[in-house]
Amino acid sequence: MKLYTTITSLQKALKEERLKGLKVGFVPTMGALHKGHLSLVEMAASMCDIVVVSIFVNPTQFNDKNDLANYPRTLESDMKLLSTIRCEYIFSPSVGEVYPVPDTRKFEFGALETVMEGKFRPGHFNGVAQVVSRLLEIVLPDKAFFGRKDFQQMAVINELVRQLNLPVEIIPCDIVREKDGLAMSSRNKLLLPEYRKCAPLIYQTLKEAKEFAMKKKVAEVKKYVVSQINATQLLNVEYFEIVDDTTLIPIKNWNETGTKVGCIAVFAGKIRLIDNIVF
Ligand code: PAJ
Repeated sequence: MKLYTTITSLQKALKEERLKGLKVGFVPTMGALHKGHLSLVEMAASMCDIVVVSIFVNPTQFNDKNDLANYPRTLESDMKLLSTIRCEYIFSPSVGEVYPVPDTRKFEFGALETVMEGKFRPGHFNGVAQVVSRLLEIVLPDKAFFGRKDFQQMAVINELVRQLNLPVEIIPCDIVREKDGLAMSSRNKLLLPEYRKCAPLIYQTLKEAKEFAMKKKVAEVKKYVVSQINATQLLNVEYFEIVDDTTLIPIKNWNETGTKVGCIAVFAGKIRLIDNIVF
């Protein structure tokens, strides 16, 4: 496992691997790694000859300065974790390396960026698109791996790859959860004990909603989820939407075609958690 901090050194090493005919798998992350991230790395290792993991806290996707400042940065322990599984290259560049000049590109993703996360975190997906397109251009992977935990992000990235005709296959990976059901997230580390204790209610409620979904109207299911979670004073739902899995447009009736996904964002104190479930 080798650590690279500059684009030219990483590209030189990867070029040699490619000349040997080896297939490159890429897992972009912002570090503070947990088993969710590791599952992506393991998936990449199972499908590719060479695995590259990037660790870069991307400033352009944070619309909240405090969130950016508080985001955990744990390169040393991340490297330790990665050394327990197969990962050939870690790419951990500085902000100046990724953005030698400010990135002023503005992407257009239509409804994909105006609902849910897009609505409550304006500019977030534009920043994600900037960094992911940049990283994909640097690494030039055959396959790139993303988690379904960030469901809307994956839809945006699929659209980004389509719009820019990037020669990469995007591989979606399942959500990894704690034993009590809470979706693993780097932000879970920031939860105070009392909030950590009630956070599993989010997924518990999503599962309940899935069980009785078809028997109740969409609006009733939405109301149930919000009121059930908000009943715990420590949790506060920002949004809960049931959407079509490709357009991300909220559905009105269960008989609409396509796969439906329930997506939620909840504040546990100051920490914002997201999760989703396929109905
Ligand atoms: P980050 O939050 O570090 O997540 C990196 C990848 O890990 C994403 O694809 C995310 O969906 C996946 N992931 C996170 N928690 C997961 C879980 N519990 N189960 C499965 N996969 C999980 O997402 C980002 O970073 C950034 O936006 C990034 C794409 C790196 C661009 O900066």
